[in-house]
Amino acid sequence: MIAPDHGPIWRSHPGKIIEAYDTWSRQKATNKALIIYDTMWQSTEKMAYAIADGLIHEGVDFKMLNLKLNHRSDVMTEVLDAKALIFGSSTINNGMMPPMADVLCYMKGLKPTGKIGAAFGSYGWSGEAVKLLTDSMEEMKIQLVEPGLRVKYAPTHDDLAKCIRLGQGIGKAVKESLKSERESATLA
Ligand SMILES: Cc1cc2nc3c(=O)[nH]c(=O)nc-3n(C[C@H](O)[C@H](O)[C@H](O)COP(=O)(O)O)c2cc1C
Repeated sequence: MIAPDHGPIWRSHPGKIIEAYDTWSRQKATNKALIIYDTMWQSTEKMAYAIADGLIHEGVDFKMLNLKLNHRSDVMTEVLDAKALIFGSSTINNGMMPPMADVLCYMKGLKPTGKIGAAFGSYGWSGEAVKLLTDSMEEMKIQLVEPGLRVKYAPTHDDLAKCIRLGQGIGKAVKESLKSERESATLA
């Protein structure tokens, strides 16, 4: 029987949870990206979907995690085996969307390792959110593989093309970094 100091008690099949912990603790990433975002009027969401198009182009799996629909714990479950974390938030009151601040605060405490990513978001005049997202990512040592992308109000056709390119850039970086991880595992 396994009785952790919090969480459910495993009275049968303890091997199952030991095996799961072993996998989770190694934080082994797969060919997967997460687009974690929040939006008021869908401008940032339009950017998110264009970034997803770029990932599709590179053959990288992804999940869209709209924070109005996904709880922070569900986001963390997805983070476990994701290689890229792409954060998007519009600017509100000189900051990021509060659900995004919540997720980042929670994520920081759980110390994900070996991730890559980038930040994006729509704004109206001052546009602080992308810089704040980038700062949080740096604090978590997430390697920034593309510069943050800000778009003023609703994205234009050209803005969406930039988002697609950002998605492609991240997709390429996912594949390269998984390849070099495989090569170093073979050498070890
Ligand atoms: C309550 C509120 C506060 C806002 N505060 C800011 C702000 O401080 N700086 C800024 O650049 N834009 C601000 N905006 C503008 C939004 O960032 C902008 O409309 C953006 O396009 C919204 O993107 P979204 O549809 O993805 O939420 C604010 C909008 C609202 C509704």
